[in-house]
Amino acid sequence: PVVGSVLNLDEFESIARRHLSQQAWAYYSSAGDDEVSAHNNRAAYNRIMFRPRILRHVGEVDASTKKLFGGGTKDHLPFYISPAALAKLGHPDGELNLTRAAGLGNVVQGISANASCGLDDMLDARADGQAVVYQLYVNRDRSASEKILTSCEERGVKAVMLTVDAAVMGKRERDMRAKGEVVDVGGDTGRDEKAQGVAAAISGYIDPNLDWSIVSWYTKSCSLPLYIKGIQSVADARLAASTPGVSGIILSNHGGRSLDYSPAPIDVLIELREHHPETFDKLEIYIDGGIRRGTDVLKALALGATGVGLGRPFLYAQSGYGQEGAIRAIDILRDEIERGMRLLGVTSLDQLGPEYVDILPRMPP
Ligand code: FNR
Repeated sequence: PVVGSVLNLDEFESIARRHLSQQAWAYYSSAGDDEVSAHNNRAAYNRIMFRPRILRHVGEVDASTKKLFGGGTKDHLPFYISPAALAKLGHPDGELNLTRAAGLGNVVQGISANASCGLDDMLDARADGQAVVYQLYVNRDRSASEKILTSCEERGVKAVMLTVDAAVMGKRERDMRAKGEVVDVGGDTGRDEKAQGVAAAISGYIDPNLDWSIVSWYTKSCSLPLYIKGIQSVADARLAASTPGVSGIILSNHGGRSLDYSPAPIDVLIELREHHPETFDKLEIYIDGGIRRGTDVLKALALGATGVGLGRPFLYAQSGYGQEGAIRAIDILRDEIERGMRLLGVTSLDQLGPEYVDILPRMPP
């Protein structure tokens, strides 16, 4: 189908499923163990209903925010591109598609530590004043991480996300299996018993022996604002809030790719808002995982999120259509957010609050 006929983000996924190599599809779509968290991330949004208001002059709406990643003057859409590895598995231009689309669409891009394009190439592809955030995995060899952080500072990266939910890779069996099948054993396609999948191949340098003192290592090494990505509990959100040097957190379970049965990030957001609302004054709080609709974005913002991230939808969109696909994905989300705001009865994002949502009782996934 032509890109202009794609109407929602799920369509990009079904197109990608048909056209990607088996290995790329398995790497992008897979999640930990039985993939319960990956499904639940999304399903959890279904138990949040709206409390819409009517007759409110909604002809003009403004879906922009100035608050993302430390704020500033530029208007951004309230969603960003979550850092996800290896965009080139889906399209030869890879992450450059995302950088260019984000620049045109006023969207913040998270650049993965395991991006398939060079950091300099992505930074060169930025539009004037375009904000990007670098995602760091701490290397066992700290000096390698320090070197990257120095380039980020020198080259005007806006902030750093430190990912902490992947001390080891989740057990992603579809990824492990797809990798195994590409090996030719004496004319038959057989299984390479040593192969552990794409994820394992790119993650060996990540230090699994970290604790909260990594934050002071970071603040000594880098002056850019720090965001901890992969917070999965209210207890750790509170620890982050009391740790000097942390500007914000990203409630995330890596799109369900790490620990299966990790809670849906939106459920952690609900719990945090209910029991520890003071956290929202101390930190910028972001959320990712399972966000596929403008209404999902509005629900998270109403519950106090500063902004939200999407991972797979942008990988799928650029896989099928390159830069145009990523632009279309941004346009679809922007339209859904603006339409949702009008139907909900708000004309700017700062009007959103918990009074606009009704949270139904939690059910097992
Ligand atoms: C990811 N994610 C990720 N996160 C990170 O911090 N560094 C990384 O290199 C990657 N790589 C990566 C690859 C792929 C293929 C996926 C799908 C995801 C996680 C990502 O940033 C984000 O947390 C999730 O993608 C959010 O869930 P959804 O939007 O994919 O449901």
